[in-house]
Amino acid sequence: MTAPLPSQKAMVPFVSVENMMRLVHHLGIERVLAELTDLIEEDFGRWESFDKTPRVASHSRDGVIELMPTSDGTIYGFKYVNGHPKNTAEGLQTVTAFGLLADVATGYPVLLTEMTLLTALRTAATSAMAARHLAPKGGKVMAMIGNGAQAEFQALAMKAVCGIDTVRLYDIDPRATQKTARNLEGSGLTVIPCTSSQQAIEGAAIVTTCTADKQFATILTDNMVGPGIHINAIGGDCPGKTELHKDILLRADCFVEYPPQTWIEGEIQQMDRSYPITELWQVVTGQVPGRRDERQITLFDSVGFAIEDFSALRYLRNQIVGTDFYQELDMIADPDDPRDLFGMLQRAR
Ligand SMILES: NC(=O)c1ccc[n+]([C@@H]2O[C@H](COP(=O)([O-])OP(=O)(O)OC[C@H]3O[C@@H](n4cnc5c(N)ncnc54)[C@H](O)[C@@H]3O)[C@@H](O)[C@H]2O)c1
Repeated sequence: MTAPLPSQKAMVPFVSVENMMRLVHHLGIERVLAELTDLIEEDFGRWESFDKTPRVASHSRDGVIELMPTSDGTIYGFKYVNGHPKNTAEGLQTVTAFGLLADVATGYPVLLTEMTLLTALRTAATSAMAARHLAPKGGKVMAMIGNGAQAEFQALAMKAVCGIDTVRLYDIDPRATQKTARNLEGSGLTVIPCTSSQQAIEGAAIVTTCTADKQFATILTDNMVGPGIHINAIGGDCPGKTELHKDILLRADCFVEYPPQTWIEGEIQQMDRSYPITELWQVVTGQVPGRRDERQITLFDSVGFAIEDFSALRYLRNQIVGTDFYQELDMIADPDDPRDLFGMLQRAR
C-alpha cells in the first residue's frame, strides 16, 4: 500500500537559501535592511513581553554551536547557529544558521528557514538600530574592521538606516578587504581600503569591529579611540573571544542586549560586575537616553540575541505570504486519527 499523501496540516513553509536570495533581490537589500531594523526596534520596544534566556552554547576546541530560543506568548522561535573562526581556512563559513517559528497555541511549526543570510541581515539591522540611537548625528563615515561574511551587510545597513556615505575597510587579510570593496562597488558608498585599524578609524563616526578569532584579541586599543565616536563591537561573542582593550570600556558608555548573556559572551566579560551597562531596549523605549553629548564614546557590545532572530523570522513569514519564495515541507506527521500514529505508519507499508 502506498503512503497517503500528506494533508495541509503536515506542511510547513520552508525558505531555502535559493529562495532567500530571490526574495532579497526581489525586495532590494537596503529595503530589507531598513524594514528589518524597524521590526527589531518594534520587538525591542516590547522587550518585557518576551520569554528570555541566554542562548544555550555547546563549546568545543574550534568553535561553538548554539540554540537561541524566545517567545512572545503567541509565536515561538529558535535559531541554530555555529561559530567556527577556523572554518574559512578550510573553505567553510565561520557562521551558518537555520531557524524555525512555531505557533504557541498548538506547538506546530509555521516556518522553517535558512538563516545564514538572514543572520547577516539581522545582525546588520541590529547594528543600525543601535547606531540610530547611539551614533553621533550626521556622521557620514564608518570604519569596518573585519571584512568577512558580515561586512557588506553591516555597511549597507548603516547606509540605509543611518545615512553613512563612506566606508573605510580593514582586515588582516587584504584579500578580504578586496572582496568587500569589490562587492560594494555600485552600492553608492565611497569605499576606502586601509592598511591598519588605526588608519581605518580616522575620521569615522561609527567604528564596527567584526573579526573572528577564538581569543582575547585587541582590534582597538584605547589610544586609537577619540571622543564622540560610536563603536559597534560584533565579533566578541563567546567566552574568551573579545575585540576591544579593556581601557576602551572604561571610557565608553556601554549598551547591551540581554545582560545575562552579554556578561558571559560580550566585551564586558573582561569587566567586573560593578561596571555600568545599559540595556538597549530601555533606550528604544525612551526610559534612558542614548547618546547624550558630542564627546561621549558609545559602545554597543553586540553578541546577538534571540529576539533579533525572532524579529527576522517574523519579517520573513510576513514577506512570503502569497509568493513563491518558499516550498512546502512534509514535516509534521498528520494521521487522520491524531492518536493513531502507529496506524499511519502501518498503512504506509
Ligand atoms: N554579534 C552578533 O550578533 C554576530 C552575528 C554574526 C556574527 N558574529 C561574529 O562576527 C564575527 C565575524 O563573522 P563573519 O561571519 O564575518 O566571519 P568571517 O570569518 O567571514 O570574517 C572575519 C574576518 O575577520 C578577519 N580578522 C580576524 N582577525 C582580525 C584582526 N585581528 N584584525 C582585522 N581583521 C581580522 C578575518 O581575516 C576575516 O576576514 C565572528 O566572530 C562571528 O562570531 C556576531
